[in-house]
Amino acid sequence: MSTPLRFDGRVVLVTGAGGGLGRAYALAFAERGASVVVNDLGGDFKGDGKSSSAADKVVEEIKRKGGKAVANYDSVEAGEKIVKTALDAFGKIDVVVNNAGILRDRSFARISDEDWDIIQRVHLRGSFLVTRAAWEHMKKQKYGRIIMTSSASGIYGNFGQGNYSAAKLGLLGLSNTLAIEGKKNNIHCNTIAPTAGSRLTQRILPEDLLEALKPDYVAPLVLWLCHESCEENGGLFEVGAGWIGKLRWERSLGAIVRQKNQPMTPEAVKANWTKICDFDNAIKPQNVQDSTRSIIEFLSKINSEGEVSTNQTNHAASTATSGFAEAVGHKFPPFSSAYTELQAIMYALGVGASVKDPKDLKFIYELSSDFSCLPTFGVILAQKCIMGEAMATIPGLSINLVKVLHGEQYLELYKPLPRTGSLQCEAVVADILDKGSGLLILLDVYSYSGKELICYNQFSVFVVGSGGFGGKRTSDKVKLAVPIPNRPPDAVCTDTTSLNQAALYRLSGDWNPLHIDPNFASVAGFDRPILHGLCTFGFSARHVLHHFADSDVSRFKAIKVRFSKPVYPGQTIQTEMWKEGNRIHFQTKIQETGDIVISDAYVDLVPIPDISAKAPSEGGRLQSTLVFEEIGRHLKDIGREVVKKVNAVFEWHITKDGNTAAKWTIDLKNGSGSVYQGPAKGSADTTLILSDEDFMEVVLGKLDPQKAFFSGRLKARGNIMLSQKLQMILRDYAKL
Ligand code: NAI
Repeated sequence: MSTPLRFDGRVVLVTGAGGGLGRAYALAFAERGASVVVNDLGGDFKGDGKSSSAADKVVEEIKRKGGKAVANYDSVEAGEKIVKTALDAFGKIDVVVNNAGILRDRSFARISDEDWDIIQRVHLRGSFLVTRAAWEHMKKQKYGRIIMTSSASGIYGNFGQGNYSAAKLGLLGLSNTLAIEGKKNNIHCNTIAPTAGSRLTQRILPEDLLEALKPDYVAPLVLWLCHESCEENGGLFEVGAGWIGKLRWERSLGAIVRQKNQPMTPEAVKANWTKICDFDNAIKPQNVQDSTRSIIEFLSKINSEGEVSTNQTNHAASTATSGFAEAVGHKFPPFSSAYTELQAIMYALGVGASVKDPKDLKFIYELSSDFSCLPTFGVILAQKCIMGEAMATIPGLSINLVKVLHGEQYLELYKPLPRTGSLQCEAVVADILDKGSGLLILLDVYSYSGKELICYNQFSVFVVGSGGFGGKRTSDKVKLAVPIPNRPPDAVCTDTTSLNQAALYRLSGDWNPLHIDPNFASVAGFDRPILHGLCTFGFSARHVLHHFADSDVSRFKAIKVRFSKPVYPGQTIQTEMWKEGNRIHFQTKIQETGDIVISDAYVDLVPIPDISAKAPSEGGRLQSTLVFEEIGRHLKDIGREVVKKVNAVFEWHITKDGNTAAKWTIDLKNGSGSVYQGPAKGSADTTLILSDEDFMEVVLGKLDPQKAFFSGRLKARGNIMLSQKLQMILRDYAKL
C-alpha cells in the first residue's frame, strides 16, 4: 500500500467550509493532521444573512474527532481578516481552498446589477482577496497550495447562470496566471469543477443523484492537489461521483486566410471556415508561448511565401528568399525502386517483425493469404536520393557529407504498398531553412506506380554547422512534428533488438558503415556501431499499427518522427503511445537508459468509417438504426401526447469504434413529433453521444443510462435533465 498522504504541521484555510463541499474538505484535511481554519459566513444559498453556527458546527466536529480547527465567520470579501485568523491561531498559512459560493440564477435578460455584482464579489473577488492575503506568506516560506473552485457552468455555459458562469471561468483565468507566477516559489494553483450533492445543487439534481454524489467523492482530489508531493500546477479537473478527469485546450490546425501583400477579407474567412473549425489533428497549446509562437510562425509563413498553397500535388518548391534560389526547387534525376516480396520481407525482419507474433506473419511469409508490405517500407523505396553522393549534387549548396544528420521523417501513403512493384520516384528540394546551428534541407519524394501516386516522403536532412546564413527558419512545406500529450501513455510496446539488428536492416539499402564497422563508428564518436534511425522508426511504426490498428496496413495513413538519439543494437526499444482520435502520438525510448530516441512523433490512421465507406457492406448497418425506426413508427400513434409531456428535441450521435457513425434526431417538440436521420433541423435541446453497442444495452435495459453518463460511456450536452424525461417516455411508450 502507498504511504498515506498526511498534512501534519500544515495550516489549511477552507472558505465556505460550514457545509457542502467545504465541510468535506475541512474534515478530510483535519483527519490527516492539518490545522484547519473553517471559514463560513453562514448566510443562505443566495448570499443573504449570516450566522456563526455553520462554521462552529464543523469546528466542533473536527475537535470531537481529535483534530485542530478554528472558526472564522467573515465573508471572503474580508480576505485579510480570514488569513489573519490562520496566522493568529497557527502562525502560518500553507493551503488555501477557495470554495465559498452562492447562486443567483436568472436568465440573462433578468440578471439585475445586484445579482451580477454579488456573484462576482463572492466567487471571483472573494477568491482574489483571500488568495492575495495569503500570497506573500506563501512566497516567503516558498511553499503554498491553492485551489480555485470553478464549475462546468463556466466551462461549458449553462442556461440561467450568466453571472455565475462568468465568475467561475474568471477563476480559471486567475488560477492559470497564479500557477505561472507562483511556480518559482513552489506555490501551485489548480482549479476544480466539482459535481456534488449540496444545498446549491438540491434544486438542480434529482434526489437519488444528490445522495450518490457525495462531497466526499470530491475531497480526495483537493487533498492530493494540496499535498506537498503533488507537482500538478495550473491544471483544471472535473470531479464527481468518484470520477476525475483533466481538461485542456485544443486548437484546430486552422487556415491561413491572407496572402502576402493582399488584403484579408471576410470572404476568405468564409471560404476557409470548414478548415478553420476542423479539429482533426488538432493541437493542444499548453501556454501563451505556444499560442504566440504559432501566430509568429504563421506570420513568417505569410511573409516568406509569395503565395500560400496547401495543394498537396503542387510539388514545385517556392522561390527561396534565403540565397539558395538555385537549390530550392532542384529536381533530382527521377529514379525507380523495384522490389519483390524478398525485399519487403527483409525489411520487415530488419524492423523486428518476427514469427513469435502471429500478426507479423503476413509481413514475413510470402504465402500468407494476406501478405502485406509494412507501410514504412515506403521510406526505403524513396531513400536513394539521400544515399551516397546524391546530396552533394544539389546546385548552389556545398555539403560536407560527414556533417549530415537525418533529422526528421514524414511518410504518407495514399494506398497500401503493392506486394511487389516498381515505383517511379521524383525528388525535389522543397525548401532550405536556417536553423541557426545548422541548415535544414527539406527533401520531398513522390513515388508513383504508373501515374498513380502511392506515397510521399519528406526527408529533413540537417547539415550541422551550416546555419546562421540569415535564411528563413520555417516554411509551409515542412511537415511539423507534434508534441506528445501531457499524460501517461495509453499503451506501451517493447521489443529487444538483436545484436545483428543493424547488420540485418542495412540489407534494405542503407549501407553506411557507421552501422556495422566498429572503426568507422569510433571515428564518428560512438562506442560501437549504432542502429539506423529509420530502423527504430520501423519498429515503432510496427508497434503503433499492431496496437491500434490490429496490424491492418490499410489503416495506415501517415507517420512523422523526429530523431533525437541513437540506439545501440541489443537495446530494448520502447514505444509509448497516446491515442487522440485517429492520431496516435508516440515517443520511443531505450528501455535500459530511459533516453528518448524518437520524439514528438505520430502516426495518423485512416478512420474506420472511411474504410467502411470504401467498401459498404450490409453487415455494417448499425443496430440502433432499427430502434430509431421503431420509435418513429410508435410516435405516429402517440406523438402528440409525448410532445406535450417532453417538449424537447434530442440529437443522438451513435459511434462505432470511436467515430460518429450516424446521427439521429428525435423531435418531441414540434407537431406530433418525428424521428429522422441526421442532425436536428434547428437546434437540439440535448445531444446524447454513445456507441451503437451501448445504445442497444441501454435500450435492452442492461445498461443504466445514469451510470453510463457518470462512467463517461454516455456523453450528453445541453439540458441533461431532459434526457430523464426521454428515458421515461421511451420506457412507457415505445415498449422497447
Ligand atoms: P454550499 O452552499 O453547500 O456551500 C457553500 C458555502 O459557502 C456555504 O456554507 C456558504 O455559507 C458559504 N458562503 C457563501 N458565501 C460566503 C461568503 N461570502 N463568505 C464565506 N462563506 C460563504 O455549496 P457547495 O455545493 O458545497 O459549493 C461549494 C463550491 O463549489 C461553490 O463555490 C460552488 O459554486 C462550487 N460548485 C459546486 C457544485 C456542486 O455540484 N455542488 C458544482 C460546481 C461548482
